[in-house]
Amino acid sequence: MIAHRSFSLDLDRQSADALNATLIRQGLVVDHQQAQKADILILDGKIADVAPVISDYPADTQIIDASGLYVMPGGIDVHTHFNIDVGIARSRDDFYTGTRAAACGGTTTVVDHMGFGPKGCNLHHQLAVYKDYARDTAVIDYSFHGVIQHINDEILSEMASMVEEEGISSFKLYLTYGYKLDDESVLKALIQLNKVNALTTVHPENDAAIAMRREMLLEQGKTAPKYHAESRPLECEAEAIARMINLAKLAGDAPLYIVHLSNGLGLDYVRLARRNKQPVWAETCPQYLLLDERCYERDDALKFILSPPLRPEEEREKLWQGLMDGSIDTVATDHCSFTYHEQKQRGKDNFSACPNGMPGVENRMPLLFSEGVMTGRISLSRFVELTSYLPARLFGLYPQKGSLAKGADADLVLFDPEQQITITHNLLHDNTDYTPYEAMKCHGWPMMTISRGKVVACNGEFTGKAGNGRFIRRKPFHADQEGGTVVNEEE
Ligand code: URP
Ligand code: ZN
Ligand code: ZN
Repeated sequence: MIAHRSFSLDLDRQSADALNATLIRQGLVVDHQQAQKADILILDGKIADVAPVISDYPADTQIIDASGLYVMPGGIDVHTHFNIDVGIARSRDDFYTGTRAAACGGTTTVVDHMGFGPKGCNLHHQLAVYKDYARDTAVIDYSFHGVIQHINDEILSEMASMVEEEGISSFKLYLTYGYKLDDESVLKALIQLNKVNALTTVHPENDAAIAMRREMLLEQGKTAPKYHAESRPLECEAEAIARMINLAKLAGDAPLYIVHLSNGLGLDYVRLARRNKQPVWAETCPQYLLLDERCYERDDALKFILSPPLRPEEEREKLWQGLMDGSIDTVATDHCSFTYHEQKQRGKDNFSACPNGMPGVENRMPLLFSEGVMTGRISLSRFVELTSYLPARLFGLYPQKGSLAKGADADLVLFDPEQQITITHNLLHDNTDYTPYEAMKCHGWPMMTISRGKVVACNGEFTGKAGNGRFIRRKPFHADQEGGTVVNEEE
């Protein structure tokens, strides 16, 4: 990478245990509320001070000149799938390559969606499996969302200890795929998760409508990748969003978080719920903001098979509107990478045989910065709100994460707004063989990422270490009754 502005750091020194003080000088320090030129002092992995000028610091402090750069809380990606086994394939990025790519893209925490375990397994089973996956491999901090693949008394009674003892305060349930829940199970899950102070997240798609359409298309010989999108049009998703919102209401106003929102009709249902003061939040992803169903006309259309699929072009602007008016709360990636030349080829003669998902964890921050901040659609503080502050608030990580206040973990990203980069897969640090954003131009780029005081990425190179990431026990979820706002239990 040709860096417009590069750092020369003594990385041997920074990996030595002795070095525990860093001063970041004169960057534009941005949080979810304001931007001001300041120094940040880091001691022992925590933010020790933020002030216009800091002159009192230990003798061996590492000094980083951040003039001309934006210094922001490290990104929090609350939707990844590392090392996930989807039955027909295992995703190509594990917790090492996935978090390495995340770090190089300015992200310092991931909350990964655990995959389904063996039929009938309990909630703790997958937590143990995933802790093993990440323990010696993750290079940045991490947590997991619980996964609900069936409902019975054991599962319902386990939920409290998952939240209180394990620090898992959000769970995902699916309305499609193999372990979809029926309405009764959804209601039971919503009621119990609300009772134990956990947030229900949902993959909303209408399974029956998709199955019927898929069968019809395949019978007609319509097997090409583009029919993946035709098999699950946006109404399949929007219907399921509306159903979930109403079930959450019937479950006593249980808090609800919609993952990977891809279209304007679904967003309208979210807006209506929030106008009615229902505690409902929504996440979208860069692929729905920047790509659309025209990708399915390309020769390499298999690269873009994911669910929900890419939508008609006009949906993109509706989602941007949601980011601008505050009705979408987070931008995550749904990073679920499969190789194009091998794994995705399973779908070349039948779209329904293609493993669903695409990579993106390294591109979220630069793409949103370039297409959101640099185009003037969103402010710097709104960028921080979408990429770290609200993810931290909603998922029980705040103020340890998503904050630049004294005492917070020193998780930071230093963006150079002048750096221009054309994305190409060679520049990236994941373990797959393509990026869906190939050839896109980014104005602004993360030049340094710091995780609990250590530089984990610098000048486009990975500088961290496997196993340095820690499992973060998240706090229970608490919401007030104003849709779209979150109350942190310690504030
Ligand atoms: O196609 C996708 N999004 N795969 C990952 C699993 C999911 O539904 O989030
Ligand atoms: Zn999903
Ligand atoms: Zn996902």
